Amino acid sequence: MTDTSDFLLNRRSIVVRAMAEPGPTDDDLEKILRAGMRVPDHGRLTPWRFIVIRGEARGKMGQVLGEAFRKANRDCIDEQVEIEEERFARAPIVIAVVSRTVPEHKIPEWEQVLSSGAACQNMLIAALGMGYAAQWITEWCAYNDHVKGALGLESRDKIAGFLYLGTRTEEPTDRQRPEYGDIVSEWSGPAN
Ligand SMILES: Cc1cc2nc3c(=O)[nH]c(=O)nc-3n(C[C@H](O)[C@H](O)[C@H](O)COP(=O)(O)O)c2cc1C
Repeated sequence: MTDTSDFLLNRRSIVVRAMAEPGPTDDDLEKILRAGMRVPDHGRLTPWRFIVIRGEARGKMGQVLGEAFRKANRDCIDEQVEIEEERFARAPIVIAVVSRTVPEHKIPEWEQVLSSGAACQNMLIAALGMGYAAQWITEWCAYNDHVKGALGLESRDKIAGFLYLGTRTEEPTDRQRPEYGDIVSEWSGPAN
């Protein structure tokens, strides 16, 4: 078994509550982002964009989240807003992965969207492989127009996920995985 397949068969995400400073170095961050750019992409449409949010920008994004949360939940209390304001501060670096498709293209939009998922997973694997903590998260803010507007997204854009990156504070235990036989089957000809 190669090191890569061994890694893939054992890797786990490191959740944000088990993350601390520091985040990836600039060089490592660039490697992670380049790994995200190196994914299968039918038609070479590059249907994804990556937005790095770190340092003080996390607090600014927190303000945006607070505003968006208040707007969507008119009867919320201040404590709830404060939690939202801290959401992006849970990790040193967050990468917003944007799915930017060309719907009218002959390459089905579905395939373009799938490429964004591949970009998220490639970056997740790159970061975990370098020994960082990393988790792919969407949460409500990935679907909020106020948040998308603040990130400068176009109306056709979707957020495939926020990739939280940091230093791991604890090692994860494994979670339950599906049964091989429930997922994998072999086709040997048409039914009936
Ligand atoms: C598109 C997508 C969105 C996700 N959003 C969230 C989320 O909002 N909150 C969360 O706790 N986990 C979310 N997850 C799950 C975690 O990324 C991850 O699957 C989980 O922590 C365990 O992953 P592991 O099998 O890599 O250890 C999401 C996963 C995917 C693929």
